[in-house]
Amino acid sequence: MGEIRVLKTIGETRAQVLKYKKEGKIIGLVPTMGYFHEGHINLMRKARKECDVVFVSLFVNPIQFGPKEDLASYPRDLEHDIKMASKADVDYIFFPEVSEMYPERFQTKVTAGELSKDFCGASRAGHFDGVCTVVSKLFNIMTPDFAYFGMKDYQQLVIIEKMVEDLNFGIKIRRCEITRESDGLAMSSRNTYLTPDERSAAPQFQKSLKALSCEIIEAVKCGKNLNLNEAVNRRCDEILAAGFKKVDYLKIADAQTLNIISNFDQLKKSREIFIAGAMFIGKTRLIDNIVFEI
Ligand code: PAF
Repeated sequence: MGEIRVLKTIGETRAQVLKYKKEGKIIGLVPTMGYFHEGHINLMRKARKECDVVFVSLFVNPIQFGPKEDLASYPRDLEHDIKMASKADVDYIFFPEVSEMYPERFQTKVTAGELSKDFCGASRAGHFDGVCTVVSKLFNIMTPDFAYFGMKDYQQLVIIEKMVEDLNFGIKIRRCEITRESDGLAMSSRNTYLTPDERSAAPQFQKSLKALSCEIIEAVKCGKNLNLNEAVNRRCDEILAAGFKKVDYLKIADAQTLNIISNFDQLKKSREIFIAGAMFIGKTRLIDNIVFEI
């Protein structure tokens, strides 16, 4: 469709959406907070393949950040983002001001349920309510047929799938694989915070997650009773020894229900396993995960 158009208001965005709906076009939405990397571009490419019109929302959503988190320093660069998004031939970037999304006296929120209680939800109070609220607003503004989310934020993805089901949004959620650097580090806008030393230590996170998943698969195959707590602790030590400062969490769960698996008998009842972690390296909190069948 040519050059990307940047839309700043809900009104003009709705008008465009309405026009395409009347023409029977399939609309795709890629919700983002910007500062694009190849991970974002892969979501956009997937949307481009499946949809007639591709909207990307670019909004650093203040209500999903805690008071001590990095809202003010979150990287922002619209020019860079427009250039990157044009690689995926995106049609529109919805780029609202905070006051457009949350005008004075805004007061209604969507509350995430049980799925939000553990993992990142446990260390980031209110985060997933903020995510569900903004994503609901984006869904209502752009009424997409398909919406694209990366598996790096796997808990977010599962929560949004449940919200779409529970609140009857009638939108198909597309899961997209994690995009990684060549050394395995999951791509993230927050990787720009890393110093050179932190950046070279960071890939150990994914290596340890992968090694833990292999250990589990091997133990299941051999019928060996692996002590999951000990296995997790060994991997945490390994990650800390590589230069990480602090473990926020490293947990094993059922990939569908996100129920924590704490022993091998529980593990054998799950078809698909989710291992997720959040780790501090210097001041930066990185998350990563692995989902695998057993
Ligand atoms: O994953 C993100 O970038 C954000 O949480 C999202 C889904 C765009 C909501 O602000």
